[in-house]
Amino acid sequence: MKKMAIISILSIVVYACSHKTTATVTKTETATSLTMEAKGALYAANCVKCHQLVEPEKFTKEEWVGWMDKMAPKAKITNEQKANIYDYLAAHAKAE
Ligand code: HEC
Repeated sequence: MKKMAIISILSIVVYACSHKTTATVTKTETATSLTMEAKGALYAANCVKCHQLVEPEKFTKEEWVGWMDKMAPKAKITNEQKANIYDYLAAHAKAE
């Protein structure tokens, strides 16, 4: 199941690229205006530059807050993108 989720995220990214659109967030959008798929695509697009995607289930929501604070500057993402990516990770995070 985990593999399937990652694969479907990646296929969304591939699809988006092949249609010359990007899944980036515009300044006016908030964390809640995107579908979960789009948030997952943002995660896949912005967080694989330096390492493989970490399974959302590896950490709890709280732990993801810390990782997002640490990784957002590295990934050079906007606050909106950070909020959207965190939303996706939190929705799939390890149960506390
Ligand atoms: C510029 C490179 C870079 C980018 C982009 C990046 N990371 Fe990282 N990431 C690292 C490095 C280096 C480490 C390991 C060192 C550390 O722990 O700080 C790491 C470690 C991690 C870990 C810990 C993995 C583990 O199993 O212990 C998580 C989780 C993580 N990154 C999440 C993310 C997320 C989410 C994003 C996208 C917002 C992201 N990273 C983007 C460089 C990057």
